Amino acid sequence: MIIDNIKHIFNNDSVVNYYDNLTSKAGLLKSEGIIIKKYIKYQDKILDLGCGAGRTTIGLYHHGFKNIIGVDISEKMIERARINTANLDLPIIFNVSDALSLYFGDKYFKCVFFSFNGLMLIPFKKNRNKAVTEIYRILDNSGYFIFSTPYLDNKLTKPFWVQRSKELKIDNTNEKYGDILIDDFGLDNIYIHIPMSYEVIEMLNANAFEVIEMVPRTNICEEDEYIENELDDNMYWVARKK
Ligand SMILES: C[S@@+](CC[C@H](N)C(=O)[O-])C[C@H]1O[C@@H](n2cnc3c(N)ncnc32)[C@H](O)[C@@H]1O
Repeated sequence: MIIDNIKHIFNNDSVVNYYDNLTSKAGLLKSEGIIIKKYIKYQDKILDLGCGAGRTTIGLYHHGFKNIIGVDISEKMIERARINTANLDLPIIFNVSDALSLYFGDKYFKCVFFSFNGLMLIPFKKNRNKAVTEIYRILDNSGYFIFSTPYLDNKLTKPFWVQRSKELKIDNTNEKYGDILIDDFGLDNIYIHIPMSYEVIEMLNANAFEVIEMVPRTNICEEDEYIENELDDNMYWVARKK
């Protein structure tokens, strides 16, 4: 049911076209390249989880990370990622797979990269936690889970969130507090959870990950104007399997 809804959204043609366009227009963000290169070696096995149309997968390949596989829950995203790599004549493997139940064996990857707030698109805390447990399982000892999320810590005094607290009578310790539905691409039900940082830390620690780094994207570097106009600030996380 939940999975069907995510699939429905990310198989939508306008959504696929948006991420396809980002693949050619933006490529790997400078901040993403900096954070990955800090922890991951070129020969390491990397899973690009929620790879979309291949923006990060192809970008990482171009940066020298050749041992990379991309997976996404959306068939149409994977179709587009395959077309994009075929057009560039790159030997990258893409497959459909759900983060809650990945088809890889235990300890297969040195790094799982879940970019562009992908983890927080998974509805309900128990499902996000299940994805983090899966990621832990497929990571090698001391492997890295690198991902980004929006974060609520710096938004609590904004009128939208103040109003929300009043209307819903929930406070920021309630897990549903950060749940919102975004109206975009002609769809009115794109789910995203905007977590408090402590929630993410708790989830990582509960899954035996050690938080190595959490850094707002804007503290890493400035992106090209096109990206800055497109993106809100988000948090980059580096967690290591204990
Ligand atoms: C915000 S898009 C980012 C796509 C790509 N990483 C990029 O940055 O261009 C998030 C992607 O995560 C995928 N996704 C969402 N939930 C997923 C899940 N449970 N398992 C695998 N992929 C998922 C979506 O289909 C979508 O392609």
